[in-house]
Amino acid sequence: DLCSSSTGAVEMEPDGLILIGKEDDIKKSQRVTAKVNGREVVVFYHEGKFHAMDSRCYHEGGPLRLGEIEDINGQACIVCPWHKYKITLETGEGLYEGINPLEPSPTPQWQSKGVKQRIHKVTIDNGNVYVSPPDLSVSFDSDYFADKYKNSGDLAM
Ligand code: FES
Repeated sequence: DLCSSSTGAVEMEPDGLILIGKEDDIKKSQRVTAKVNGREVVVFYHEGKFHAMDSRCYHEGGPLRLGEIEDINGQACIVCPWHKYKITLETGEGLYEGINPLEPSPTPQWQSKGVKQRIHKVTIDNGNVYVSPPDLSVSFDSDYFADKYKNSGDLAM
């Protein structure tokens, strides 16, 4: 059955986009993993929007596809199952809770470490969900683990 692969048989579309799956199916399952140019990518459907990012956490390669989504200061974040790092779905920023000791009564505030996880552009067309091939002229911390697990066959834990 050619249609049953949930890990996403990769098909190249004429315009270079990579087909991930049917819009309706991903809306139901809320997340799906696929190989995009050999790298593990996870596509989430969360609160009416699709997001795609490298599936291997920028910290030590944890499987973000198995993480929970949490709202942090109004930003939807995936929480890595390994060491609980938080990564925004929208931008791939790593968030941390920091304290400014110079404040009169310091309280922890969520702050950004910058974009750590490579995100991928999602396109919806005619009921299908596509991801754009990554622009490798720009690099992100998660690239190291994307390469390490590249073409590793099974989606290992
Ligand atoms: Fe993701 Fe450490 S591997 S938090």
